[in-house]
Amino acid sequence: MKTRQATTEDAAEISAFLKELVDRGKRKRPWEETFVRDCYVNNPDGIQCSVAVDDDGTILGMQALSRAVQGNIYDVTPGWGIIGTHVKPSAARRGVGKALFAATLTAAQNAGIKNIDATIGSTNAEGLAYYEAMGFRTYRSADGAICKMLEVPAPSA
Ligand SMILES: CC(C)(COP(=O)(O)OP(=O)(O)OC[C@H]1O[C@@H](n2cnc3c(N)ncnc32)[C@H](O)[C@@H]1OP(=O)(O)O)[C@@H](O)C(=O)NCCC(=O)NCCS
Repeated sequence: MKTRQATTEDAAEISAFLKELVDRGKRKRPWEETFVRDCYVNNPDGIQCSVAVDDDGTILGMQALSRAVQGNIYDVTPGWGIIGTHVKPSAARRGVGKALFAATLTAAQNAGIKNIDATIGSTNAEGLAYYEAMGFRTYRSADGAICKMLEVPAPSA
């Protein structure tokens, strides 16, 4: 498995597994290809959108990091990062999320992001456990969601 920058051409494949997550009750937000293109891959506030791919190029997961702007839907402090992670159900618990986060953390450091928010459904045990494992800690809760935050460490020399 390796990670790389997502491209517009990846949107259909990403959309297909977002739909799988919706069908399994693991996602409530839109999954359509246009949404993936506009809100993840080509998000004007985006810092990095990465995909993890296996040896034959199949996309296993996607992680998007964007910069919080005034009035963002998550009410995150402007200037913080906002992260979202989605792994194809058949590829879960194989280290895809962990590999994606290594790439995202470097992008956050390069972009000068000091804090990253992850807003997770309060009943989403795997999402909560994943972000906790990546070093995020709960700092507030709101409207059926738990918000975890990571203070981005300085890059190691
Ligand atoms: C949450 C999610 C991103 C995790 O991705 P993943 O590729 O399965 O995660 P990894 O295999 O890299 O796991 C890294 C660590 O996270 C934790 N973790 C991940 N999934 C877990 C689960 N189902 N139960 C408990 N801990 C879990 C573990 O500590 C794990 O380390 P370990 O396997 O060595 O014990 C994935 O399950 C997913 O896309 N879920 C649906 C969408 C979602 O909930 N997104 C996040 C909230 S928006």
